[in-house]
Amino acid sequence: MHKNFLFTLVFFSTMHLSAWWDTGHEMVCSEAYKLLSQETKKTIDPLLQGQETFGLSCLWADEIKQERPDTRAWHYINLTDDMQNTYDARCPENGCLIKAFYDQLEVLKNKNAVFVERQEALWFIGHFVGDIHQPMHVGYPEDLGGNRHQLKLENGAKTNMHKVWDGQIIEHIESKVGADGFRIQVQEKIKLWVDQAQSSHLGINPDWGNIEDWAQESRDIAMQDSVGYRGNLLKVASSEYMDANGEIVEDRITLGAIRLSALLNSIFNNGN
Ligand code: ADE
Ligand code: ZN
Ligand code: ZN
Repeated sequence: MHKNFLFTLVFFSTMHLSAWWDTGHEMVCSEAYKLLSQETKKTIDPLLQGQETFGLSCLWADEIKQERPDTRAWHYINLTDDMQNTYDARCPENGCLIKAFYDQLEVLKNKNAVFVERQEALWFIGHFVGDIHQPMHVGYPEDLGGNRHQLKLENGAKTNMHKVWDGQIIEHIESKVGADGFRIQVQEKIKLWVDQAQSSHLGINPDWGNIEDWAQESRDIAMQDSVGYRGNLLKVASSEYMDANGEIVEDRITLGAIRLSALLNSIFNNGN
């Protein structure tokens, strides 16, 4: 019995998170789920049919990119250097993160929508809230959000700015404190901020802020001198760099989780 339990625990904590960025998405959604009202869960749980957990459902949008290439551009919103205001961002023909978010939100809110489409809308929304909190998903179009900004790790291995912010900073923290340690640090931050934040500026209900604001924060982080993205300044993502930016990554996951829960609660609290 105890052995089985332990096996289950290890199985579920290691099995599914194959890519590093999976960790961030899974945490945003699994932590958001804990903050949902009973009423919201009543609407959400049936929509998770075919998924193991809400956390894991938020990886689905990455898994279907191959078979649904029309959704690829939904994962980011890039702005040229002379465009720093996310409210002014134009969405290209093939789509962008902000438009996809609003489109899927409409489907999710629509009780008459086809069930499968409403399921997908929920899984998209959970994923998109994660993506919009990743600074390199609000990057420059010329270098594909940092994918072409080449870097080296301290050990000489090749990487790029996008990868570093998608997951290698998380991996670095996990190499120091363990995967569980990282999760616990984020959980503690969420608890602290939720406790403090019947307040305004975090974007908690009733005015939880909107996606353009969250995108603007990501953009502003991406533009910080210390990030080394603007002007292609950073060449090596040293362990000091990973340490220095680890806190930002934890903050972004924390905010993503809190805001996703506030969003879903605001939609479903009246029994929608
Ligand atoms: N492709 C082009 N821009 C991108 C971005 N910001 N993130 C991920 N993939 C991209
Ligand atoms: Zn994505
Ligand atoms: Zn990414």
